[in-house]
Amino acid sequence: MATVDYETHEHDVLVIGSGGAGLRAAIEASASGLSVGLVCKSLLGKAHTVMAEGGVAAAMGTCDQDDSWQTHFYDTMNGGKMMNSWRMAQLHAQQAADRVRELQEWGALFDRTPSGDFLQRDFGGHQFRRLCHVGDRTGLEMIRTLQDKGVHLGIEVYMECAITRLLKDGDQIAGAFGYFRPDGRFIVFRAKAIILACGGIGRSYKVTSNSWECTGDGHALAYEAGAELLDMEFVQFHPTGMVWPPGVEGLLVTEAVRGEGGKLTNNKGERIMSKYDPDRMELSTRDVVARAIYTEVKEGRGTPHGGCYLDVSYKNPATVIRKLPSMYHQFKELANVDITKQAMEVGPTTHYVMGGVRVNPDTQQSRVPGLFAAGECAGGMHGGNRLGGNSLSDLLVFGRLAGIGAVDFVKGLKKQPSLDQAQVDDAVVEMTAPFEREGAETAYDVHADLQVSMQHNVGIFRTEADLAVGIENIGKLNERAKKVVAKGGRAFNPGWHLTRELKNMLIVSESIALSAQQRKESRASHSRLDYTEFDPEWAKVNSVVHKGPDGKMVIEAVAKDPMPEELTKILAEQKELQPQRELNKKERLAKAAKE
Ligand code: FUM
Repeated sequence: MATVDYETHEHDVLVIGSGGAGLRAAIEASASGLSVGLVCKSLLGKAHTVMAEGGVAAAMGTCDQDDSWQTHFYDTMNGGKMMNSWRMAQLHAQQAADRVRELQEWGALFDRTPSGDFLQRDFGGHQFRRLCHVGDRTGLEMIRTLQDKGVHLGIEVYMECAITRLLKDGDQIAGAFGYFRPDGRFIVFRAKAIILACGGIGRSYKVTSNSWECTGDGHALAYEAGAELLDMEFVQFHPTGMVWPPGVEGLLVTEAVRGEGGKLTNNKGERIMSKYDPDRMELSTRDVVARAIYTEVKEGRGTPHGGCYLDVSYKNPATVIRKLPSMYHQFKELANVDITKQAMEVGPTTHYVMGGVRVNPDTQQSRVPGLFAAGECAGGMHGGNRLGGNSLSDLLVFGRLAGIGAVDFVKGLKKQPSLDQAQVDDAVVEMTAPFEREGAETAYDVHADLQVSMQHNVGIFRTEADLAVGIENIGKLNERAKKVVAKGGRAFNPGWHLTRELKNMLIVSESIALSAQQRKESRASHSRLDYTEFDPEWAKVNSVVHKGPDGKMVIEAVAKDPMPEELTKILAEQKELQPQRELNKKERLAKAAKE
């Protein structure tokens, strides 16, 4: 093999991914005095976190004093249909409020009540007003604050850098290999611990709210390094993405629109949710609303561009613009729709994956020593369906815990890991191979076919026959992906970048399809037309995939950890209180709709 140059950097902790979870983890690790490197595939500040627009969920009780961590815990478990890691849901509910207050101390400017406290809004599945927000730009404000804090702590940032392989010393993490996207320069990191915070997988689907970065890199890197992926069948289709014009199909329309009173109707003018969830209506959980819109369209009651109408135009225009400024501009500029006068057209969009790297809930460490995961690429917290706003609090709570976990791990290390040159050489060969192949097929061709297949065969509604086709397609696409070519050189070459990202998306897609095939019931976001009911037996197990010794993906159903009695008791107590609270919420929303 010809010698290929690469630069080498060394850190105690390397954080891969610079969205909210990565930044929060890097801040924690850096504050302990360790050397921290932060790798961003894109530019610092350009993260999918900003697409969580409507708010961060935390039981602060500033608008509804009866709110408590116990109710937040119950709502999260209830929304996830009890598939959640109870320990993660507990830690999250208990710690979210402190993390939001801390963010405020670091400079985040949240919307306020008249008395100056956090203003909290309603969202689906939360019984109380629980989402602290900054208009409809909450994720953006959080990223801005975390970024400022991180930069001032002296974290070393590697921008436009993609990691393609984790390096190990025996079982243990030793570093990572990657390249800089603009010029294709190779880079090797030596690291004692790595935290994956690479976000989601949306680009495996045709219609998605996720931008180009979300190619399942963290999931796939962990899988390749020997970690397990948990409950990958649970993919969240956010009910409201733009459906028109085609160039912005899938772009998120925040749940805050419904939180502020948005009504969903079909082409007959009927409020669709009165049929699917008359109690909670538009603020039912996302899985229910997404299936409702999908069904209306499929049965011929959709809008001209294949969605349903979402309408806030009956409200005071000034209130709409003040509460939903981004949505106002988004529709005005991209679709020529004035949402203070006209209804929006919306439909489901692939938004979030609840499944992810299987981690210890308290430390966020995977089964690979020294490898941690936080945020969307970690699994367990949200069970079968994530409640809106819980991703922003998740990334604060578990980003911090991953940072602490990695620091403790590094401080306790007896043996410094060493780098294995053969692994680096392999990583170089993998990245240069597409330039050396003969052929005509590019990664774009294979990616487009994968997206169509995932959308049709592993989408909102699933059947054995469709899943079998989806899995067979992935097998064929894997063969094609091994042969794709890249033209030109390593500088400024997105076609080459996609050759590697394609591998990640194929791993993630296979894990979703196999897990969906294994789970023979319908639960939360996983809807099977051939197994339409909850099955108490399936409630007892998680889906777990890992890479087998022959390189093939292995799927198992693994018994869940039993919940301790004190938490079972909390769930029972909260369940009793729920009917009255849902009624109160309904009345509150009806009153707000008139304002
Ligand atoms: O609809 C939204 O604003 C998205 C929030 C979230 O995904 O948590």
